[in-house]
Amino acid sequence: MADNNIQVEYQVKAPIIETVGVSKMFHIGEDIISSVSDVSMQVGYGDFTIIFGPSGAGKSTLMNILMGLEKPDLGEVFLKGSSLYEYSEEERTVIRRKKISYLPPVQYWLEYMSMVDNVALPLIFLGQSQKQAREKATEMLVTVGLKDRLKYRPDELSSGQQQKAALARALIKEPWIMFADEPTAHLDTRSVEELTQIMLAAGKKMGITIIMVTHDLEFLKLSKKWLLMRDGRLWDIKDRHSPFTDVREAMAYVDNQPKGKA
Ligand SMILES: Nc1ncnc2c1ncn2[C@@H]1O[C@H](COP(=O)(O)OP(=O)(O)OP(=O)(O)O)[C@@H](O)[C@H]1O
Ligand SMILES: [Mg+2]
Repeated sequence: MADNNIQVEYQVKAPIIETVGVSKMFHIGEDIISSVSDVSMQVGYGDFTIIFGPSGAGKSTLMNILMGLEKPDLGEVFLKGSSLYEYSEEERTVIRRKKISYLPPVQYWLEYMSMVDNVALPLIFLGQSQKQAREKATEMLVTVGLKDRLKYRPDELSSGQQQKAALARALIKEPWIMFADEPTAHLDTRSVEELTQIMLAAGKKMGITIIMVTHDLEFLKLSKKWLLMRDGRLWDIKDRHSPFTDVREAMAYVDNQPKGKA
């Protein structure tokens, strides 16, 4: 009996996504760039995890690896216990379409369609009826505070409103994991605060795991886990071997590095 209990506890704590010794190199002419170096990490079900670090540290590359878009040269990624890159590219595309969402820094919309129809699209692609998809899109837009913008077109929304709508679009299919890469990069402080609160509340309510690359302290305050990426290596700020064990110190270091664009 006691053994059974141990097993149950292990199952509850198993990560939704895990990497073991993941590395990725890029060849540019004669040069080899080590973008991600020997990264082992675990993210639990429903966790909100922040990855931060200077430009060029490998954050987006790691995110692409986690999303099944970029096969690592070394190491393995486990999604819900299955080795992600043992699936074929087609199978990974299906997993991504159904169960993984991505929230980018800048949004692309079908300009001639209303927000409801834009947000409904992921469900239409998954074969749901237009009626069902529109109902769910309406519900999601209400959840993110855009109840009075349902019929608007994308260019009639502010950038903050567009990011909220993008969040609705990312969450509508109820993914296992939502990956967000600098989703607040182009927002003012108030919009950042709003989006932060809405994202965390919606993620929690829907039980969605969120992994986010951000430089925003607003998010850092709300996350229990901070992963610092530096020169391709990933450090848990709470680990005593981390180059920084204080999140503000780590942020100050990141802020003092040269800026760039991925
Ligand atoms: N497709 C690619 N081909 C060649 N090199 C790449 C490729 N993708 C990334 N790199 C290199 O890998 C390193 C890490 O890039 P990455 O985009 O992951 O950094 P990042 O941490 O996301 O930076 P940023 O904060 O600017 O978005 C960089 O040196 C980059 O030039
Ligand atoms: Mg990047």
